[in-house]
Amino acid sequence: MQQTVRRAHALRGTIVPPGDKSISHRAALFNAIARGEAVVENFQRGADCLATLRCLRRLGVSWSLDESSLRIKGAGRGGLREPEAVLDCRNSGTTMRLLSGLLAAQPFFSVLTGDASLRSRPMARVIDPLLKMGARIHGRDGDTKAPLAIRGAGLRGLHYRLPVASAQVKSALILAGLYAEGETTLEEPAPTRDHTERMLQAMGASVTFGEGPAVTVRPLAAELSPLSLRVPGDISAAAPWLVLGALHPDAEIRIAGVSVNPTRTGILDALAMMGADISIEEQRQWGPEPVADLVVRSSRLQGMVIGGDLVPRAIDELPLLALAGCLAQGETLIKDASELRLKESDRIRTTAAGLRRLGARVDETPDGMRIAGGQALRGATVSSYGDHRLAMMLAVAGGLADGETVVHKSQSVAVSYPWFWSDLEALPPH
Ligand code: S3P
Repeated sequence: MQQTVRRAHALRGTIVPPGDKSISHRAALFNAIARGEAVVENFQRGADCLATLRCLRRLGVSWSLDESSLRIKGAGRGGLREPEAVLDCRNSGTTMRLLSGLLAAQPFFSVLTGDASLRSRPMARVIDPLLKMGARIHGRDGDTKAPLAIRGAGLRGLHYRLPVASAQVKSALILAGLYAEGETTLEEPAPTRDHTERMLQAMGASVTFGEGPAVTVRPLAAELSPLSLRVPGDISAAAPWLVLGALHPDAEIRIAGVSVNPTRTGILDALAMMGADISIEEQRQWGPEPVADLVVRSSRLQGMVIGGDLVPRAIDELPLLALAGCLAQGETLIKDASELRLKESDRIRTTAAGLRRLGARVDETPDGMRIAGGQALRGATVSSYGDHRLAMMLAVAGGLADGETVVHKSQSVAVSYPWFWSDLEALPPH
C-alpha cells in the first residue's frame, strides 16, 4: 500500500494519539500473572500489542477487547500453562523479550518466533543474562536469534550490569527475578523507560528503583494484585505531530492525554533545546504514570548535538529528530545511538536513505547521523521499509516538503498507530 502526502497551507486541531505501546504490553503481561480481573482502558490496539494478547491466550490467559478497553483475567503467578503451539510475536521485540524472561521461569516448554524483521534482531542480550540465572534457552544462529526454545527452570537471582541501555532486557530480567530464588539487581548504563518498575510496584511486587542507577527486585512473596488503569497516550505517537507542528510555518496542534514519564520525554527536551514552542498543560496522573496535554506551535529550530543519556529517552523518536535537523538552522549530530541499527529496521540506514531521497544532506556514522541544516525538502517516492516509525517520519517529511511525496509500505503504521493516516488528513483546516 502507498499514501501520498502534500504540504498543507495550515495545520490546526487536536490529536488523541493511541495508548502507549510499552505500557499496553506491560498491562497485558503483568495482569496475566496477577490474581483477579483488571480493566485496561485505552489499551493500544496496534499489531504489536495484539501479538502480546494472542501469545497470552495460548498461555491460557482469558481476555476480551472492545473498542478501547481490555478486560483480562489474571491466571495467578503459577497459572500460565504450556502452549500447544509456537508463540508468534510478529514484529514485536517487546513481546519476545519480555516473554522470554517470563517463560524462562515457568515449569513448561515454549517456543517464540516472529516475522523476518524480529527473527533478525539480537536476542543474546536477553538470553545471556537469563542463562546466568539458570534458564535453559536455545535459539538460531548460536543461541542469538529467534525462534527461541525455552524449557522453563528454577532460576536464581542475579547481580547484572546491562551492557546496553535496553528497557526490554531490563524488563525481561525483572520478570525472571520475580520467580527467582534471591534478589536480582540490575544496573543500567543509562536510564531507560521505567514502566515495568512503576506498574509492578503498584501491583504489590517488591521493586526498588529511581534511587541511583540500579533496580532491585525480590521474588514474589504473594500473588500480584490486578492493576486496572487508563493507558496514557503514546509520546512516540505524539512525536510526529510535535515535529510537524514545530517545523510547519502555520501550525497549532494540541495532542491530548500524552504520557510525560520523564524516562520518555527526551523528544520534548531535545525539541525544547532546538527552540520549539511546545507547552505542557493540564499535568495529571493516570495510575502510576504522569500525563499531560501538549500544544505545539510553528517555531524556528536550531541544530544540536543529541547524545548520551538523551538517546535512550528519545530512542524511538530519533528518526523524527533527524528530520527536524534537516530543517533547523545549523548542523545536527546524533551520536551514541548505534542501537538504532537493531530496531525494526536499521534506522540509521533507513532514515538517512529516506531523507536523502527527499533532497536532504544526511551522512551516516557508525553510531548516528550528521545532518546539514537549513535545507528545503522536495517531494519524492520513498519507502518505510516496513518500519512503522519510518513510515510516520516520512509522512511528516512529506508534509513539510515542496511537491508530492509517495510513501510506499505505508500500512506499517498499523504496528503502533492504526489510524495515523486519517489523523494526518484531518489536520489541515477544512
Ligand atoms: C521498548 C524499549 C525500547 C524501544 C521499544 C520499546 C519497551 O527498546 O525502542 O520500541 O517497551 O521496553 P530497547 O529495549 O531495545 O531499547
